[in-house]
Amino acid sequence: MNRVDHAHSGAIIAYNILKDMGMDVKERVEIMMAIGNHDENTGTAISDISAALILADKSDVHRDRVTNTNLSTFDIHDRVNYAVTNADLEIDSKERKIILNLKIDTKLCPVLDYFEIFMDRTMMSKYAAKYLKIWFELVINGTKLL
Ligand SMILES: [Fe+2]
Repeated sequence: MNRVDHAHSGAIIAYNILKDMGMDVKERVEIMMAIGNHDENTGTAISDISAALILADKSDVHRDRVTNTNLSTFDIHDRVNYAVTNADLEIDSKERKIILNLKIDTKLCPVLDYFEIFMDRTMMSKYAAKYLKIWFELVINGTKLL
């Protein structure tokens, strides 16, 4: 429909698809609420499922996401995503923490550029982890930053 308010339109679309598939209304609403609260500008973790969705969604940064093949026309989102050559989301159940481990090619993009577009998403991940009573750690190029 549109990038603007995509969390809310996505929630309504998902609700109707899941309804057509015969999912129980209680489960449908829980998924709709999670999708509707995954955007850092309008939502926050409101349930375990929404917190998990936020952690997964905000960790989705990688070269494979870039569809533009012309490097000279890259915007900052393309450049940051393209510079991320490895992204692992690891769960340490013993230490009760989730670790986003990124490898950024700093020849393509300084680490600061990552934070220019991912600071709000990083903080949202931190609060989503807090909702789940676990820690969120961010490691970039071997350095623990959070
Ligand atoms: Fe989204």
